[in-house]
Amino acid sequence: MINQTRRSFLKSVVRGSAGLAILPSIVPARLFGADAPNKKIQVAQIGCGRMGRSDLGNVMTQPLARIVAVCDLDTKRVAAGKQMVEDYYRSQGETDVNVKTFHDYHDILASPEIDAVVITVPDHSHALLAIKAAIAGKHVYVQKPVTYSIAEAIGLRRAVEAKKIILQTGSQQRSEKPWKSFRAASEAVRNGRIGQLKTIKIGVGLDKPSGHAPAAMPVPPNFDYERWLGSAPEQPYMELRVHPQDDVEGRPGWITTEDFGLGMITNWGAHHVDIAQWAMAQELGGPLTVEAHAQFMRHDAWTVHTTYHVEMAYPKKVQLIMDNKFPNGIRFEGDEGWVFCTRSPEEFTDADSTKKLPPLLASDPKILSPLDGNAVRWMPSKNHHGNWLESILANQQPIAPIQQSARSLEACAAAWIGMKLKRKLTWDAATEMFVHDKAANKMRSRVARKPEYDFELVLKQAGIA
Ligand SMILES: NC(=O)c1ccc[n+]([C@@H]2O[C@H](COP(=O)([O-])OP(=O)(O)OC[C@H]3O[C@@H](n4cnc5c(N)ncnc54)[C@H](O)[C@@H]3O)[C@@H](O)[C@H]2O)c1
Repeated sequence: MINQTRRSFLKSVVRGSAGLAILPSIVPARLFGADAPNKKIQVAQIGCGRMGRSDLGNVMTQPLARIVAVCDLDTKRVAAGKQMVEDYYRSQGETDVNVKTFHDYHDILASPEIDAVVITVPDHSHALLAIKAAIAGKHVYVQKPVTYSIAEAIGLRRAVEAKKIILQTGSQQRSEKPWKSFRAASEAVRNGRIGQLKTIKIGVGLDKPSGHAPAAMPVPPNFDYERWLGSAPEQPYMELRVHPQDDVEGRPGWITTEDFGLGMITNWGAHHVDIAQWAMAQELGGPLTVEAHAQFMRHDAWTVHTTYHVEMAYPKKVQLIMDNKFPNGIRFEGDEGWVFCTRSPEEFTDADSTKKLPPLLASDPKILSPLDGNAVRWMPSKNHHGNWLESILANQQPIAPIQQSARSLEACAAAWIGMKLKRKLTWDAATEMFVHDKAANKMRSRVARKPEYDFELVLKQAGIA
C-alpha cells in the first residue's frame, strides 16, 4: 500500500503545481518500485560544477523531487554539492538528512532506488552518460547542447526511444521560468503575427582567448582526470582546460576548448537556434544549406572560434543569420513586422559584451497581444525542471524532448562544420546527413579515445539498433 500512497501523493502534487489535466491513466510502474519514505521522485545529480549547482537548486526545491545522491569526479565538488543539498533540506526543518555521494556514475545507474538523473557534465560526455542512464531505465535531464556531435544526438535519441524514458534537455528558454520572452516571441512568430517570416538574426556572444599558452600540469589529487577526459582525445591535464580548482561556480575552461565543447556556436547556439527552429516549425527539421566563416583561437590554451558569421537557408525561404556583431538574442523579421527576444540583462555572462536590450521587443505591441483559441500554443511549462518531473509522472514528452534538441544540435554542429570546412554545405534533414559530402559527414562523429567511452559500442551491447 505504500506504493499506492506514493502514487496518490505525487498525483496531488502534480495537480497542485501545474493545475493541468496531464495525469496518465497508467503511471509508469518503475517509479514506484522503490519504497521511498519521502514519496518523491528520487533524483541523483551527476556533475556538481557551475551549472550542476544551479540544477541542484532547481530540482531540490521542486515538490515532486528528492535529491538523494550527488556525483562528481572532483572530491571537492561532490562534497560542496552534498553540503548544498543537505543545508537546504535542513533549512526546511529536517534533522535526519544524508545525501549519498558517488565518484563513479555507474554506481548511481546500478541503484534501483534512484528513479532519475540530472546530467550536468561537460558537453563531450553528455551522450555516453545519458545513453547509459537511459539503458539503465533512469529518466534523464541532460544539459544543452544535448550532445557534442551529430552522431551522438542520433544515438541518444535511439536509446531514449528504445527504453521509453523521459528525457528533458536543459533548454530552459522553452519554459516560463526563468524567462518568458522566448515563448512569447516564438509563439507570435509561429502564429503569423509578423506575417511571412523572412529572416532570423541571432547573436550568441563572443569568446575571447585566455592569453595563456598550453602548458601541462600535474593532476590535482582530488580529481579523476582519466574519467573526466572520457571519449575526448588524449592530452595532458591543464586546469585552464578543465574547471577552476578554487571556485566550484567558476566558468570552466573546457567550454572554450574544442575537444570538449565547440564554442558559442553550440554553447549559446543550442539555446537560440532551438527557439528559432521552434518558431519556424522546423523543430523536427533543419537547414537546407549552411555557410559559415569564423576565426579560431591560436597559440592559446583555448581553441574554440571567436568571431563568426553563419548563414543558414531554411524551407519557405527563411534565412537564419548568426553574427558576433548582433546583440545576444533572437530577432525575427517578417513582411509585416519584427519581434526580438533575449534574457533579462542581468543574466548575461562575461562573453556577452554586446549591447544589452530589453528581453522582449516588437515593431508593434499588437504582435505580442494574447493569441486566440485556435492558435498554435506551446505545451504549458511554468518551470523547466518542474516540467521534466511532471512529464515523468505523466509518462509524456516534456517541453524539450530529444527528438527536437537533437535537431537543434544538428543545425549548430553543421554550422561548426561549415566554419571548419570554409565552404557551403548542403544538409538533408530527412537523412540527417550532408549531401554527397564525405568530409562533412566524417565530422558528424569522432572516434572515442578508448572502447569504454564509445557510445556506439554501448548501444550495440544493449541491442539498440
Ligand atoms: N542551460 C544553461 O543555461 C547552461 C548554462 C551553463 C552550462 N550549461 C551546460 O551545463 C553543463 C556543465 O557545465 P558547467 O559549466 O557546470 O561545467 P563545470 O565544468 O563547471 O562542471 C561540470 C562538472 O562535471 C563533473 N564531471 C565531468 N565528467 C564527469 C563524470 N563522468 N562523472 C561525474 N562528474 C563528472 C566535473 O568534474 C565538473 O565538476 C555543460 O553541458 C554546459 O554546456 C548549461
